[in-house]
Amino acid sequence: MFTLDQVVPWGRSFDEYRRMFALTDADLQGRILGCADGPASFNAEATRRGATVVSFDPLYRFAADQIRDRINVACDSVLEQARQHQEQFVWDFIPSVEALGQIRMAAMNAFLADYPRGSRDGRYVDAELPALPFADRAFDLALCSHFLFLYSEQLGETFHEAAIAELCRVAGEVRIFPLQALDWARSPYVESAVERLRRAGLEVSIERVPYEFVRGANEMMRVLSPARSA
Ligand SMILES: C[S@@+](CC[C@H](N)C(=O)[O-])C[C@H]1O[C@@H](n2cnc3c(N)ncnc32)[C@H](O)[C@@H]1O
Repeated sequence: MFTLDQVVPWGRSFDEYRRMFALTDADLQGRILGCADGPASFNAEATRRGATVVSFDPLYRFAADQIRDRINVACDSVLEQARQHQEQFVWDFIPSVEALGQIRMAAMNAFLADYPRGSRDGRYVDAELPALPFADRAFDLALCSHFLFLYSEQLGETFHEAAIAELCRVAGEVRIFPLQALDWARSPYVESAVERLRRAGLEVSIERVPYEFVRGANEMMRVLSPARSA
């Protein structure tokens, strides 16, 4: 069972999503699925800009106050981890640990402000991989930030196979960032996923993106289903 104390809620901003996934204005015109979006402000900010975004995460079975309390508990320990491993990060767009705290808290507060209305509007859906309550090709683009590949050791390869297949079922294109696991090394499942998806007739590429916060984590996986790539 998914419980709140298993999660370290930590959310990124629209600008970070834009760079992690090399999003173009044309991408933002389509129907977008935010996977494992947690307390990221991508949905809130993209919706404000006129985009059509649905986010799903098992976190969304909890109320805003419960999520806020959990964020407040997690924040200090996440920043302390970053402070202890400063050499693992590229401090340019985010210049310091203090700025990291401010940027992430601003993103999470934007999420919290939008969450009640977004939930009522069906933009925040309580659902979890590997089985989603969406129709085939309900979305043009699925974005998965800091979930698949990151938790390689915890989730395992079978989960990754099923989860990526499910994302390809509900969206014509899937982008996943980063390709690194929590130990900072590239996930052992990346190459096997590329091979398996290509064998299944999907078009897969690993692409450099204009975002690098964890040192070396600057590539995303893009998977196009046949109808879209034809
Ligand atoms: C590190 S956070 C990433 C949040 C956001 N995508 C970002 O990059 O800012 C990972 C998220 O995965 C969610 N999660 C955990 N198990 C999941 C599952 N089986 N399916 C979808 N999301 C899950 C957690 O609730 C959490 O919000």
